[in-house]
Amino acid sequence: MQQVLRIAASVLAADFSRLGEEVRAITEAGADWLHVDVMDGHFVPNLTIGPDVVAALRPHSALPFDVHLMVSPVDPYIEAFAEAGADTITVHAEAGPHLHRTLQRIRSTGRRAGVALNPATPAHAVEPVLGEVDLVLVMSVNPGFGGQRFIPSQLDKIGTLRALIDRGGRSVDLAVDGGIDESTAPLASGAGADVMVAGSASFAGGRAAYAGNIARLRAAAEAGRSAPPDVSAVPRAVGAATP
Ligand code: DX5
Ligand code: ZN
Repeated sequence: MQQVLRIAASVLAADFSRLGEEVRAITEAGADWLHVDVMDGHFVPNLTIGPDVVAALRPHSALPFDVHLMVSPVDPYIEAFAEAGADTITVHAEAGPHLHRTLQRIRSTGRRAGVALNPATPAHAVEPVLGEVDLVLVMSVNPGFGGQRFIPSQLDKIGTLRALIDRGGRSVDLAVDGGIDESTAPLASGAGADVMVAGSASFAGGRAAYAGNIARLRAAAEAGRSAPPDVSAVPRAVGAATP
């Protein structure tokens, strides 16, 4: 079943020289989750932060920490992120040969388990493990960088996953990550996503703008839910203009 709509602010777009203040500001601005992108320079072509930074941020917000690990191999780092204060630990389906084992390892820490799918990975890649996860994250850009354009072909994947999750009858969050703004959020929510991960659109314009940013994202996503846009009309080709 579809869950309450949530906005997950990705700290990748925050001012890294003032991360604690930024996390407090986006929390006060009304974000529902804090999304933390961990990149290893190997699975993705960029490096970000490790568990010590997650632990340092933990006292600055009571929001759920949604930690997105773009790391391979990932198993050796799961306990460290659990101890650092992650509430959900999301791993990539493409990051290793033993996804089921990895998800069980996350669950053994008591944290929520998530699985992320790169744009070229089909929805059905995670069908056999839907019973082991609390969250599925559809990457609507190629992971590694903020500020990229939403890839419209991911709307079909969101729709397929919505149907698979609903058929399973368990409560599983369906998140979308990459290029989410006021114009793409209604497409993603209309297709069935219930968590909008947004970096650039959350942290745009300086701290005074954050509350408005989150409110506009939420309103746009709610509008897509109550009156779903005709996503079949959105061009799917790579490089096609995003509406
Ligand atoms: C990309 C990250 C995203 C990123 C999204 O690899 O997983 O979470 O922060 O940034 P925007 O919202 O700017 O596309
Ligand atoms: Zn992310």
